[in-house]
Amino acid sequence: MAIRLAIVGCGGMGHRHVRGLQELQTAGLAALELVAACDPVHANALSLADEAERRLGARPAIVASLPELADHAVAAVDITSSPRSHHELAVAALQRGWHVLIEKPLGVTVAACAQIHAAAQTAAAVLSVAENYRRDPLNRLAKALLDAGVIGTPRLFLQHSVGGGDRMAISLWRHRRDDSGILLDAGVHYTDMMEYLLGEIDSVFAATRLHEPIRRNPAAAAAGDGDGDDKRGAIDPGGAYAQFQAAMPAQFEATAEDALYATLSFKSGAVGQLVEDHAGHGEAVWARSIHGSLGSMRLPGDRSGAGIVVDLTDGQRIEGEALLARVPDFTLDPATARLFGSERLSGYANTFATVDAKLLATEYAEFARAIEHGDPVEIGSAEGMRAVACCYALLESGATQAPVAIADALNGRAATYQRQLDQSLGLVPR
Ligand SMILES: NC(=O)c1ccc[n+]([C@@H]2O[C@H](COP(=O)([O-])OP(=O)(O)OC[C@H]3O[C@@H](n4cnc5c(N)ncnc54)[C@H](O)[C@@H]3O)[C@@H](O)[C@H]2O)c1
Repeated sequence: MAIRLAIVGCGGMGHRHVRGLQELQTAGLAALELVAACDPVHANALSLADEAERRLGARPAIVASLPELADHAVAAVDITSSPRSHHELAVAALQRGWHVLIEKPLGVTVAACAQIHAAAQTAAAVLSVAENYRRDPLNRLAKALLDAGVIGTPRLFLQHSVGGGDRMAISLWRHRRDDSGILLDAGVHYTDMMEYLLGEIDSVFAATRLHEPIRRNPAAAAAGDGDGDDKRGAIDPGGAYAQFQAAMPAQFEATAEDALYATLSFKSGAVGQLVEDHAGHGEAVWARSIHGSLGSMRLPGDRSGAGIVVDLTDGQRIEGEALLARVPDFTLDPATARLFGSERLSGYANTFATVDAKLLATEYAEFARAIEHGDPVEIGSAEGMRAVACCYALLESGATQAPVAIADALNGRAATYQRQLDQSLGLVPR
């Protein structure tokens, strides 16, 4: 019998999750039936129901709040709302015994994550974090190559991204300190990837900045002369946000930091350098590489399908299919293999929207297996909380200009930066 599912949060990512369900359905991978679309903004829920009817062939019911889902006999919820609402929704769903798939970041602060983690520990329900970057087949291959020692002992992880200028990064809340901010929203992908590939981070030291206090929304109707050209330059992953961005102001004040420059120490002894500058002008930069005792590995952008390049001490370069020969036992999990058409991949050619939907389908497939067969999920509340704690360790370090241990971010000793937000959410006393 199909698992009755509701999507809770019908903005850009909610719509992208519908595409993921379509991929899942097309591949015949798991029986998840979308029975409800939940959002306090009626127009957004309506739009998602339209999208679902078009793509899945059945129209979900529309509801405005989580408790109303009880009328639709849901067994599982997929939380794709903005981060500030995650803990309240996830805890309420788990307490009702509903299984939860939840978009990253798990919670909007570490204390919010801790609430979800505690609820997940006691609930007789699955909680899985929809962290998609590590599920990219090429990141799976990178992990296998590292584990096989192809570049020796990793010493340095470089993760650099610079760009965006003063343009709005997808949406308003990504620039608001009281609703996450871009350094948590995007940063949590990077901290998860860094720990996925090199193991746990021990401590961080960061400088953080708010470079662009006024952000510009190129997609706002008011931004141009109305001939449509004004939409050029909007940051709109997968083309899922245009309708929402058009309704946002043309210009607004940003309160969340938009850049961080950091050194990270891994427990293994490796060192990381993380540059995440969402306010960069001029040439855009995106680079991820790992440098070890026997060589280096250059990784492609997540969801790009471009290949990995390994360079060894003796000058030998390994790329493409030759990489697979170095990891003869490497295979993708069956769902990913079915969706991407092969058990072993060294590259793929798909549009961003297609890859995005396929990776979301892998999350759904894993979620359904966990519900139906009790299989473990890869990213549960503990892993989701770690990725958030690493981000906040960076932000706490930026605020206090001192190094921060991840353990202190996790146990709440390092929480100065988060205090105001935690207080406003009633997570800590005022
Ligand atoms: N994994 C990825 O690649 C990826 C990409 C984009 C966004 N995300 C994550 O997805 C989530 C949503 O991001 P988005 O870009 O879609 O934001 P968005 O602003 O486009 O959509 C958020 C939606 O949530 C709704 N919402 C707010 N509070 C709610 C509540 N209490 N109950 C139900 N709905 C509520 C809003 O009305 C809105 O429709 C965030 O956690 C974000 O970090 C992940």
